[in-house]
Amino acid sequence: MDTSRTRRSWAEPYKIKMVERLRMTTPEERRRAIDEAGYNTFLLHSDMVYVDLLTDSGTSAMSDYQWAGMMMGDEAYSGSANFYHLEANVQRYYGYPYVVPTHQGRGAEHLISQILISDGDTVPGNMYFTTTRLHQELAGAQFVDVIVDEAHDPTSLLPFKGNVDLEKLRAVIARVGADRVPYVCVAATVNMAGGQPISLENMKAVYELCLPLGIKVILDATRAVENAYFIQQREVGQSGRSVAEILFEMCSYSDGATMSGKKDLLVNIGGFLAMRDEDVYAEARSLVVVYEGMHTYGGLAGRDMEAMARGIEEAVQDDHIKARVGQVEYLGNLLIDDGVPIVRPIGGHAIYLDATQFLPHLTQDMFPAQTLAAELYVEGGIRAMERGIVSAGRDPVTGNHRYPKLELVRLTIPRRVYTQAHLDVVAEVVADLYDRRDSIKGLEMTFEPKYLRFFQSRFRPLP
Ligand code: F0G
Repeated sequence: MDTSRTRRSWAEPYKIKMVERLRMTTPEERRRAIDEAGYNTFLLHSDMVYVDLLTDSGTSAMSDYQWAGMMMGDEAYSGSANFYHLEANVQRYYGYPYVVPTHQGRGAEHLISQILISDGDTVPGNMYFTTTRLHQELAGAQFVDVIVDEAHDPTSLLPFKGNVDLEKLRAVIARVGADRVPYVCVAATVNMAGGQPISLENMKAVYELCLPLGIKVILDATRAVENAYFIQQREVGQSGRSVAEILFEMCSYSDGATMSGKKDLLVNIGGFLAMRDEDVYAEARSLVVVYEGMHTYGGLAGRDMEAMARGIEEAVQDDHIKARVGQVEYLGNLLIDDGVPIVRPIGGHAIYLDATQFLPHLTQDMFPAQTLAAELYVEGGIRAMERGIVSAGRDPVTGNHRYPKLELVRLTIPRRVYTQAHLDVVAEVVADLYDRRDSIKGLEMTFEPKYLRFFQSRFRPLP
C-alpha cells in the first residue's frame, strides 16, 4: 500500500441526522415563477427553489447541541438564564464586557447609530453594507468608503482586500475634523467586496490611528470568525494560533461590535450589540427597550439566546470553520476551472459571479447582475442574489442611481446545509449558462420601493 499520499479534503466534521425534502421543478414552472416574482429572486416562493444560495443569513443548520439548548429556553420576561449564558460567551470569545441582545444585526446597527451619530457627522468604513449604511444615514451621517482600491477590482489577488486604506481614512478625518467622525465602521469580512478579509495588522493600525483622536472603532462582527480563519491561513506569524485566539485579538482593536448572529453564529434569528464603554451601554440599555425589548432579551425568546450562546462556542472550532470556508472554496474552484469570471480571491461565505464580465453586452442600466440571478434560477432552480446597481440604491442627495464598480451575483453558501453534490450541480448550471451567455438579454425596472430597493423591486425583460 502506498502510504506516501497525504491529500485530505475539507470534509465536514459532522454527519446528517435530519433531512428536509426539496421540490424538483421544471423549466416551465420556473419561468412562470420568476415572471410572477418580477424577476427578483427575493420575491420567489422558497418551495420553488432547489438549491437556495440567496443568503447565508439565518439559513444555516443548527446542531443537536443547539437544538437541545432550544429546549432549555428560560422564557422569563426578564433576567433569563439564557441571556446570562449569551453574555458570558460574548465576554469570553469576543471580549466585550457589555452586551445587549437584538432581534438581528440591523437592530444593533440602529441602536449604535442612534447613540453615537449626530446630524452632519461622517462615518468612514471599509465599504458599505446596505442596512449598516442606511441606519447611519437615518441617524444623520454620511458614509464614506475608505477601503483599499483593490477591493473594487474583482481580479486583484490581494490576500486582504478588506483592508482600510489608512491614507484615505486620514484624509477623511482631516477634511471633516475628528470631532465630526463619531466612529469608524470596520467590517470583517467585507460582504459587498466578496467576503474579503481585513488583516489583524490593519485592524490594529486603524485602532491606533483613531484612539488618540477620540474616534471609536465599531466592528461589524457578523462574519468575524470567517475573517479570523483567513488571518490564520494568510497572515504572517498567525498560522500557529487558534481561530478563537485570533478572533479575541481582532475584537481588542475595537470599542464595540454589531452582530448578526444569523451568519457566523449558526442561528436562524438573533444578534447583539456589544461594547466596552459603560456610558454607551447605559444608553443602549435604555434605547433597546423602545425598539427591541428589555435589555435581557432584546426581541429574542430565551431559547433563541441559548441557541446563539451555543452557536458562539461551535463557530470558533477550527475544524468547523475550515470545512465551512473549504466548502465555499470548493465551489469557487470548480467555477474557476470552467473559466467562469468570479471575484478572486474566493471569499468566506459566498462566490460572487462577475456579471460585468459574464454579460459584457449589457450596460449597467440593464441590470446585468439582476438579469444573471434571474437566469440562474430559470436554468437550474438555483437562487442567488444581486449585488450591484440595484443593491447600491440611489444617492440620497441627487436621487440618481449609484453606479457601483462591482456588478455581482452572490452565490451564498448556508452553513452545514448543502452537500458536495449540490455544489457540483450549481457549478454545472452556472457553466451551462456561461456557454449560452450571448443569448441573455437585460431587464428594466417596473417598481421601486423607497428603502433597500433590492428586496422588493420588480422588473420585466427587455425586448
Ligand atoms: N452586516 C453584514 C456584513 C451583513 O452581511 C448583514 C446581513 C448585516 C450586517 C445585517 O444583519 O440581516 O441580521 O439584520 N446580511 C444579510 C446577507 C442580509 O444576506 O448578506 P441582519
